[in-house]
Amino acid sequence: MSQRPIIALDFPSKEAVEVFLLKFPSEESLFVKVGMELFYQEGPEIVRWLKSLGHSVFLDLKLHDIPNTVERAMTGLAKLGVDITNVHAAGGIKMMKAAKEGLKKGTVAGQDVPILIAVTQLTSTSETEMHQDQLIDVSLKESVTHYAACAEKAGLDGVVCSALEAKDIHQATSEAFVCLTPGIRPSGSAVGDQQRVVTPSEARKIGATFIVVGRPITQADRPYEAYQTIKQEWNGES
Ligand code: C5P
Repeated sequence: MSQRPIIALDFPSKEAVEVFLLKFPSEESLFVKVGMELFYQEGPEIVRWLKSLGHSVFLDLKLHDIPNTVERAMTGLAKLGVDITNVHAAGGIKMMKAAKEGLKKGTVAGQDVPILIAVTQLTSTSETEMHQDQLIDVSLKESVTHYAACAEKAGLDGVVCSALEAKDIHQATSEAFVCLTPGIRPSGSAVGDQQRVVTPSEARKIGATFIVVGRPITQADRPYEAYQTIKQEWNGES
């Protein structure tokens, strides 16, 4: 079965999402990402609504708190029926294990436990900033692969990462470890504020498991056509 790129719904309101989704055939089941902007505005109802339309949801809230709090929050997110969600690996192995436990507790009987992934170092963090602000002395690459190994040890399914980090992460963990990668741009499109971008087919070749695509679809003149082109490229069909 062909795989769907995850569309980042970086919109400020449900109304804006509705306008965007009208550009897709109503029977098309999408995989969408809901981030902090939309979630904090619209609340859990936005996830219930997207699920009721038949879409899969990656809820990108990057939890980071004490294990007990994260566990309870994750129980609630699993009840919403999210398909993928995430935490910061900097919260530690105990916190990540608690997150997984919380998801298991909240998953409705007969449904799959949501895929849980960790953010390692934010791609907006430079090596210099990591040294200065976090007092982490190793290279950025070492920090990223170390956090990925911690996530694997905690029983998580994978990490959010740049496609360019996927090879090192797979070496530090396993080939099956999920690498969910933003920073995707189809050949010839605007890069925007992303620094290190790869095309959907490059992402596939270097080991990405999921790709997240925002503006190349949301800002396109014809979003559905842009989506189909990216989906074909991601699935090696073009
Ligand atoms: O519009 P664009 O394709 O750049 O959107 C990428 C999406 O992935 C945005 O929602 C952005 O916040 C998110 N993201 C990212 N880089 C990360 C983590 C998340 O671009 N390291």
